[in-house]
Amino acid sequence: MVDMHTKAKVLIIGATGFIGIYMVKASIKLGHPTFILVRSLTPSDPAKAQLLKSFRDSGVTVLEGDLNDHENLVNVLRQVDVVIATVSGSGIREQVNIIKAAKEAGTIKRFLPSEFAIDLDKATIEFEEVAESVEFGMKQTIRREVEKSGIPYTFVVSGGFAGYWSASLGNDNLDSPPRDKVTIWGDGTAKGIVNNEEDIATFTLKAIADTGTENKTLHIRPKENKVSQRDIISLWESKIGHTLEKTVVSQEEVVKITQETPFPKNIPHAVRYSVWVKGSQNFELDSNDVEATELYPDVRYKTMSEYLDQFI
Ligand SMILES: NC(=O)c1ccc[n+]([C@@H]2O[C@H](COP(=O)([O-])OP(=O)(O)OC[C@H]3O[C@@H](n4cnc5c(N)ncnc54)[C@H](OP(=O)(O)O)[C@@H]3O)[C@@H](O)[C@H]2O)c1
Repeated sequence: MVDMHTKAKVLIIGATGFIGIYMVKASIKLGHPTFILVRSLTPSDPAKAQLLKSFRDSGVTVLEGDLNDHENLVNVLRQVDVVIATVSGSGIREQVNIIKAAKEAGTIKRFLPSEFAIDLDKATIEFEEVAESVEFGMKQTIRREVEKSGIPYTFVVSGGFAGYWSASLGNDNLDSPPRDKVTIWGDGTAKGIVNNEEDIATFTLKAIADTGTENKTLHIRPKENKVSQRDIISLWESKIGHTLEKTVVSQEEVVKITQETPFPKNIPHAVRYSVWVKGSQNFELDSNDVEATELYPDVRYKTMSEYLDQFI
């Protein structure tokens, strides 16, 4: 049996993406032989080419391949113990090919499909087109396929990425918190979960080596990061020493905006409605769930207050 703590070979598919980069870094940091599968070894985007170089310089084995190339995928999977998928878009659907290849390879001791969001089985998305999209409906389909496959798995429910949801104080298209005005969706008091991306990756990499997370859903729920939109705004206001001008969009108006915004641009509205208006992340964990800060109390995660400090 592989000593999962020190020797598990980790393959990350989607390593050039937003959360994938954090996964690669966490895997290296925890000492795992780290492999990534990319669609091109020579990407035309110079930033991506530079990223691949920096991964190689850190000891990462960079492999090329498409998720539709079954033979290649089987060969790649035979070199590793654990697969973490952080793909987006069409890649989410194509994860069925990872499952198929993993069954044939017979080497995979843990598969973590691309989730890293809200709990798809427990948090409702009320807008049909969004609910049935690859990001939601297809991820649920993948869950069922993984469960049926017999491949040991962990589903990671990370809550929101702080870079998307907190840095903007819950607004659109902002990389850092505004200092003058902010829009509040609904009454702004429903609690959601938002986590620092580096911590999401650390908890994920901790979980791959743990029999306690096998065939479970791992929820990353630090108590300080269970926050409403108003909580995040208040934290920020206390740091900058003044209050922001607030425009409140009523619950009915959020519904109307979501309905009137064409898909897929309405996805952030639909998620915001689910999490921060309806409070859909406020459910009790059940026997299929485990919680990351309870399992790994040694991980020093960033609280939402600490996260916001970088923007002062
Ligand atoms: N919780 C949150 O707040 C939150 C926010 C955003 C996303 N998410 C979730 O996090 C996961 C990753 O999202 P992200 O924003 O990090 O993604 P991203 O930045 O769009 O990156 C996606 C990665 O997947 C690769 N990829 C995409 N389609 C592929 C395919 N068909 N075959 C192989 N590789 C493919 C891309 O490779 P290339 O470099 O070749 O394009 C890239 O490396 C998704 O499940 C997403 O729903 C959660």
